[in-house]
Amino acid sequence: MNRPLALTDTTLRDGHQSLLATRMRTADMLPIAEKLDAAGFHSLEVWGGATFDTCLRFLGEDPWERLRAIRKAFPRTKLQMLLRGQNLVGYRHYPDDVVREFVRRSVDNGLDIIRVFDALNDTRNMALAMEVASTAGAHVQATVCYTISPIHDVDHFVGLAGELAAMGAHSICVKDMAGLITPYVAHELVARLKAELDLPVQLHCHYTSGMASMAYLKAAEAGVDVVDTAISSLALSTSQPPAESLVASLQGTPRDTGLDLELLSAIADYFRGVRGTYAASDVGQQLDTNVLIYQIPGGMISNFHSQLSQQNALDRLPQVLAEVPRVRADLGYPPLVTPSSQIVGAQAVLNVLTGERYQMVSSETRAYLKGLYGRPPGQVDPDVRRRVIGDEEPITVRPADQLAPGLEEARRQAAPYLEQEEDVLSVALFPQVALKFLQERQAARTGVDCDLAGKERGVYPA
Ligand code: CO
Repeated sequence: MNRPLALTDTTLRDGHQSLLATRMRTADMLPIAEKLDAAGFHSLEVWGGATFDTCLRFLGEDPWERLRAIRKAFPRTKLQMLLRGQNLVGYRHYPDDVVREFVRRSVDNGLDIIRVFDALNDTRNMALAMEVASTAGAHVQATVCYTISPIHDVDHFVGLAGELAAMGAHSICVKDMAGLITPYVAHELVARLKAELDLPVQLHCHYTSGMASMAYLKAAEAGVDVVDTAISSLALSTSQPPAESLVASLQGTPRDTGLDLELLSAIADYFRGVRGTYAASDVGQQLDTNVLIYQIPGGMISNFHSQLSQQNALDRLPQVLAEVPRVRADLGYPPLVTPSSQIVGAQAVLNVLTGERYQMVSSETRAYLKGLYGRPPGQVDPDVRRRVIGDEEPITVRPADQLAPGLEEARRQAAPYLEQEEDVLSVALFPQVALKFLQERQAARTGVDCDLAGKERGVYPA
């Protein structure tokens, strides 16, 4: 095929979310906007995922204001966000009225492409967000979360993508959040998707295991339309593969990206400097080949480290790593991505530390087995289910069908501080965190010294 491979740059979302705990401030994004906007990327991923929560919780920034500032600074390039289906940018299901309003306003405030996923690949949890985004005029990119298990083969993913295509997806993203896809599976999966669906295909890999650049090359050979990269100074490790290496690899080939390495180099220089100022949050540049053995994302392993050392039980780490695949099998092989990675990880730790499996059960595991996160990809172990929820029947409807509307209550809570309609949504998603933010913003604007509060939280530089 003779067409350029297109690149989505993730530096302003997944790049710093993966490497700098999502802490990059808007003020560090805007100075490089002109160059990034001129670089010729297919799109820039700039919003969603953990950025919304982090803006409000840690940075004292309004995420909506960030979005508008970025939109203004990037007049040429398409902007995209990552949306966790019915979980939006949070960690639980939100009612339909909140989903509708959130997606509509995300598009209104400047996003062109909405990438929608569900941790369990339960398409019912994606349907409403996809429909609203499409009606609002956005490009709907529906996502297949890639994982490895006895039930997850290429046929399974192609079938899932076909379902999403039938639901009106404008393109398909294969999301390899743990860096598990091998170059040859990437080739096979992309070739099948291109042959069987009439949609653009995009591949999103993390570098965690060291295979992602090879996977991109093979995917390019198989006809993938777009791949996600980060600028080199915020790439590698648990982030995306670097753009520059791929650009150079494809120069002079039928899939030449046409991107200018010197311009990318200037952008990389800028972010190298920025990264240095976030050293306290930086995860560094380690590869984690444990992923290849345990199929456990790097983020989970570092969580185990801190959880087990708090319990003085770091010596149990090998047992916990061995327990994770067993819990995952018991639960019907969920992909390990927020929030299922937390559910499986916490339960594996409990199973090992108590010495008896499922003697103690987290409330999240219980909710999962009741069907409250959606339909598990495979069969749940009936003995485990009985042990945890007894004779109770799991729900079979879409979880959000059981939720009462949430906007009105959020509006009531936000009312004393309301400056824009979007404030209602911030409160609907993260009630405590957003109200605290809105109170401090109001105090700052009415002249009360809220700088002090900011300094106490470590929000503003001293
Ligand atoms: Co990612």
